[in-house]
Amino acid sequence: MTTLHLFLYILLGILAQITLAALLAGYRHLRSYQHLQKRMAGMGDETPAQPRLKDFIPNVSKTKAAPWDGFRDFKVVRRVFEDFDQNICSFYLQPTDELPLPDFKPGQFLTFSLDVQDIKSGKTETITRCYSLSDGPGYPYYRISVKRALAPQNQPDVPPGVSSNHFHDHVQEGDVLRVRTPSGHFFLAPDTTPIVLVGGGIGITPMLSMLNATLDAGNIRDIWLFYGVSNSSDHALKPYLEELALKHDNLHLHVCYGHPLPDDTVQSDFHHQGYVDVKLLRETLSYQIYNFYVCGPRPMMETLIPALEDWGVPHQHIHYESFGPASIIRKSTQSAPVSPEQDAPAINVTFAKSGETLVWDGSSDTLLDFAEQNGIEISSGCRAGGCGCCQTKIISGEVDYTHMPDFDTEPGTCLMCVARPTQDLTLEG
Ligand code: FES
Repeated sequence: MTTLHLFLYILLGILAQITLAALLAGYRHLRSYQHLQKRMAGMGDETPAQPRLKDFIPNVSKTKAAPWDGFRDFKVVRRVFEDFDQNICSFYLQPTDELPLPDFKPGQFLTFSLDVQDIKSGKTETITRCYSLSDGPGYPYYRISVKRALAPQNQPDVPPGVSSNHFHDHVQEGDVLRVRTPSGHFFLAPDTTPIVLVGGGIGITPMLSMLNATLDAGNIRDIWLFYGVSNSSDHALKPYLEELALKHDNLHLHVCYGHPLPDDTVQSDFHHQGYVDVKLLRETLSYQIYNFYVCGPRPMMETLIPALEDWGVPHQHIHYESFGPASIIRKSTQSAPVSPEQDAPAINVTFAKSGETLVWDGSSDTLLDFAEQNGIEISSGCRAGGCGCCQTKIISGEVDYTHMPDFDTEPGTCLMCVARPTQDLTLEG
């Protein structure tokens, strides 16, 4: 090879790099321009992006605070509807003691003790429920976003949707709520790996927390947000998310409508018709390592999590939130299915306080279901090992967990919502 050839090769290499950089810059410019076009097209028929409460509180307290034990009183300082149909409402909470708040990890939840009125009997009962924090940490308030429950849920201890509807119908600005310190093991890993956030329906709430925390911190890791809803009627924080995507080149917003309304327009209201599934992820994401965070309704979780594993995503890169009675059994961790066996020795479960000894035949999913099916009252909240409400002392015997709970139990106790007995068992409950 002559010196001239070498010079020409180097020159060609430099030209190729310059062309590539120019193409990338052009693509980014076009993307911003498309966002701008969309916004201008929608002007006049959309409400402006809702400011967050932090926009009204300029002096953010930097004092570090520790988590608290038990329940602490919080005042509702602001209520904001986040969707067109006003079925999703954000509640901004500040402690009544006016002391600083501990930071939380984006993705964690709050546990509430709520006094709700039974519609039939008119009696007030206390229930415990968990709601994901929906804003980033570091501000003198916590925010949750609650969807009015329209469909029945499998919660045998209280009428369906009672806590969410209680928030919508009865919790007003100025009211005081009892709240446990933020908890949960579903949170954003503090590294620089690109993240894929998948939120289905109200499962968007922990994703909002992760998204806001990442952008607030000035982190430039790539964020892919896939948000699946029915249509524009339940599309929460639409102007806010569009504005974020416009401002931040590292945010790639993909909204999926399962059932668009006649006036819903692709590219203006949503990007894809259908559900968020692995096919869409494979078509959209480039080939590199991501951390996936998934939260949504049960059918989405039950199909997407195994599909991600089938795609080859390492299980340590798949994180998900599974509130409610159903837990997702991951392929990588599942054991042989447990079913009632004719020849398995009977297991006696004794509930000391109620003085009942019952035979466990393996047909109940968990000890909590077993107790409730037999009329024994056990307090519960998330029903998925996340809040600690069903923590019960084991007097004798042992249990297994259906999956590793998020809540760290005290020694000598178990979480009944995710536990099954492995031998004769005596519980304090
Ligand atoms: S009900 Fe929340 S941990 Fe069992």
